[in-house]
Amino acid sequence: MLCALLFLLLFVPKNVELARILGIFHEKSFSHQTLGTKLLFALASKNHDVTMLTTVAPKSPPNNFAVIKINLQGHATDSGGDLFQMYNYNVFQLLGTVNSIELQWTEAVLADTNVQQLLLANKTFDVVIMEQLGNHALKGFCHFYNAHCIMLSTMGSTYLTDEQMGNSYNPSYVPYRFLNYPPQMNFYQRLHNSFVILISSLYFHWVSLPQHNAIMQKYFPNAPSLNDLMYNVSLMLVNSHYSTSIPVANVPNVVEIGGFHIDPPKNLSHEIQKYLDSATDGAIYFSMGSILKSKLMDKQKIQNILNVFGKLKQKIVWKFEDDSVDLPMNVRIVKWVSQTDILAHPNVRAFVTHGGLLSTTEAIYFGIPIVGIPVFADQNFNIALAKHLGYGVSVPYSSLDEKTFGTALNMVLNNKTFKDIALQRSKIFHDQPMSPLDRAMFWIEHCIKHNGTSHLRSIALDLRWYQYSMLDIMLSLLFSISVISMIIWKLFKTLFRQKIFKIKKE
Ligand SMILES: *[C@@H]1O[C@H](CO)[C@@H](O)[C@H](O)[C@H]1NC(C)=O
Ligand SMILES: *[C@@H]1O[C@H](CO)[C@@H](O)[C@H](O)[C@H]1NC(C)=O
Ligand SMILES: *[C@@H]1O[C@H](CO)[C@@H](O)[C@H](O)[C@H]1NC(C)=O
Ligand SMILES: *[C@@H]1O[C@H](CO)[C@@H](O)[C@H](O)[C@H]1NC(C)=O
Ligand SMILES: *[C@@H]1O[C@H](CO)[C@@H](O)[C@H](O)[C@H]1NC(C)=O
Repeated sequence: MLCALLFLLLFVPKNVELARILGIFHEKSFSHQTLGTKLLFALASKNHDVTMLTTVAPKSPPNNFAVIKINLQGHATDSGGDLFQMYNYNVFQLLGTVNSIELQWTEAVLADTNVQQLLLANKTFDVVIMEQLGNHALKGFCHFYNAHCIMLSTMGSTYLTDEQMGNSYNPSYVPYRFLNYPPQMNFYQRLHNSFVILISSLYFHWVSLPQHNAIMQKYFPNAPSLNDLMYNVSLMLVNSHYSTSIPVANVPNVVEIGGFHIDPPKNLSHEIQKYLDSATDGAIYFSMGSILKSKLMDKQKIQNILNVFGKLKQKIVWKFEDDSVDLPMNVRIVKWVSQTDILAHPNVRAFVTHGGLLSTTEAIYFGIPIVGIPVFADQNFNIALAKHLGYGVSVPYSSLDEKTFGTALNMVLNNKTFKDIALQRSKIFHDQPMSPLDRAMFWIEHCIKHNGTSHLRSIALDLRWYQYSMLDIMLSLLFSISVISMIIWKLFKTLFRQKIFKIKKE
């Protein structure tokens, strides 16, 4: 009896070991923080011991959840107004700007007094989860705690996330996230796409990586080169899904969890509920997201948009920070509202959005067609994709006027195709064996249970770049073919000469 009990105690496997997890979310924007908090709260609900380094303390954290606030005030640019100017940046200006902002930001995180205190506190962590976005020096934490490194790419997969995991990123059909190309590119687009990806990759290796390595060595003096740590990622969680994007091949430790942040709809405030319920001709939701402040938009463009809205019979809910604007009768401003709860309302017929990834994902989740006003970064790509898939129309910020916006919005409202495709995509999204959040939990716990994911690590990571791209094979083949051709040619020539000689002689 006692033996049996002992046996049970010793040999019945525990479901999963509980881990000490450090989450690092260094971005200031609401949407990035939402994603980090959602993932870490879910881990805490599975009884893991979670510590979150964050710029925005989450509301009502559970008991096994410690929050350490990073104070970035006075560091780097406070994103806001100038973002609207970024639509006329070319890819390289954007690359440089983003790199320099992120670099300052990363150093500010490491220099922060609370972060320094944590590093001195002799704590141990089994897993470090952080956002993948220009913060490469923070990989020093994974080394410092000898922890498994798990990255969350809030922007979906990029050439850099793929490179770190030994995943193929083929520029012939995967457009760069800062370009507005559809997946089916023509020759010029493929050429440009490949060129931009090549330059970005060289920029990363020659500029970003050394800069981040220098910062990392400063704060983690015994760390190996960042060049080694970059490619030691156990799990890359990517915020995308084939229902909202294009199907791509992924190695097993690149896991798509797009849509994991979406909660089932909650009740709206009484006022908004009544307003939307009474929208018998349908309603439109308009939001430029949380980083781009609508009140910093060009005044003329705001007027153009309002003129178009004023001519519609639909009711409009506009997430806007400034209520001093003269509004048409059918437009109502809200300063803050849960976007998903609005999109869930059955009367909402269109979503006018800047095209952030969370917004386009939510549009598909609820099957709402969109009019996209992309401004910068991956918004161009997300909206080009929506257009390609057929559930949205694009009106780039630079070319927005009453005519372009009016035509686009009326098309989405009156042509049933857009709604049908949005609904079809929505059904595909919801038809999954497990929810995206459960999938994230499964793979994180898989990593904890099996002491990392060395069994999932792509062997591509052990090859040199010329081996991976088969350059050495191609060259040796080319060489062999040349040598053989030369020999055959020589032989042929000699034989032929002798024959001619013979014939002449005769
Ligand atoms: C951390 O450990 C070191 C060496 O074991 C010790 O000197 C130091 O006082 C500890 N710090 C704290 C905050 O416990
Ligand atoms: C890579 O990560 C594992 C944990 O997953 C760790 O044990 C190992 O030391 C790391 N290797 C390097 C070179 O940092
Ligand atoms: C939400 O609304 C429904 C129906 O109006 C009501 O029955 C329910 O109690 C509400 N839930 C909350 C949490 O207010
Ligand atoms: C609706 O839009 C689709 C896709 O853009 C297009 O093929 C179709 O002709 C449009 N239908 C009408 C009636 O305009
Ligand atoms: C976990 O793996 C690392 C190598 O990544 C190894 O050094 C360590 O001993 C392993 N730990 C256990 C408990 O197996």
